Amino acid sequence: MSERIDGRKNDELRPIKIKLGVVKSADGSCYLEWGRNTVIATVHGPRPIFPKHLADSERSVIDYKYRMAPFSVTERKSPVPAKRDKEISLVSGNALESVILIEKFPNTVIDIDAMILSADAGTRVAALTAATLACADAGLPMRGLVSAVSAGRANGDHILDLTKEEEDAEDAVDTAIAVLMPQKEIVLLQMDGHVEKDEWKKIISMGIAGSEKIYELQKKALLEKYPIDGDINEWNFKNCKFWKCNFKNERRKKTRW
Ligand code: CDP
Repeated sequence: MSERIDGRKNDELRPIKIKLGVVKSADGSCYLEWGRNTVIATVHGPRPIFPKHLADSERSVIDYKYRMAPFSVTERKSPVPAKRDKEISLVSGNALESVILIEKFPNTVIDIDAMILSADAGTRVAALTAATLACADAGLPMRGLVSAVSAGRANGDHILDLTKEEEDAEDAVDTAIAVLMPQKEIVLLQMDGHVEKDEWKKIISMGIAGSEKIYELQKKALLEKYPIDGDINEWNFKNCKFWKCNFKNERRKKTRW
């Protein structure tokens, strides 16, 4: 087993800092530092959707936008969304759609924006982790939280939470995994690279174990802003009490579904 470049153990996450409610103009928001990744995620809505033909009378439409700021990478990135941004937005939006109780808000749209301010690999999972917390901060009823992380292989070892340097290793395999917690349902899975079946199992279980660690950090951040009695697993997610009582935004209260 070779030492990782930043000295971490193979199953160790980079340091993570989370702050909720950082963007006052949004209905919900989250700032996340994850190693050298920095993300701001915001939620606006649910609000009536325009043009009206985009409306779905049975559910809200999730408009998830993942974007990298031009200054987020060493070589300035064009501000125009690339194919990669659109693909990440689509699959991450689908993941959130399966978690938010969208059927409660017919004929509306929920805008979720995740902006990467600095990038060092694993940005799509960092964005999704932050976006989920922004949804919770916005008081949206959800089945649980999406806890996301990357796992894979670099320099012959199976590792959790790859950095850009590790992702660039010759034998690199990079898997993005997002898990609905506490149910432990996989809601997003993407992989770059080639693996054998046994290796794949190892990487997935490492990813799920990593997601559980992310979930603990997400709960801690939520409880810091919204202290409650009892177990967050037991009553917040299942009955959506936590999210509903947190429906605080006046503008949104006036919205008619
Ligand atoms: O960030 P994530 O691992 O989800 O996605 P990726 O497509 O595997 O990109 C890995 C890393 O490559 C990003 O986090 C950035 O650090 C870098 N990157 C870049 O420098 N320029 C781009 N246009 C896209 C990615």
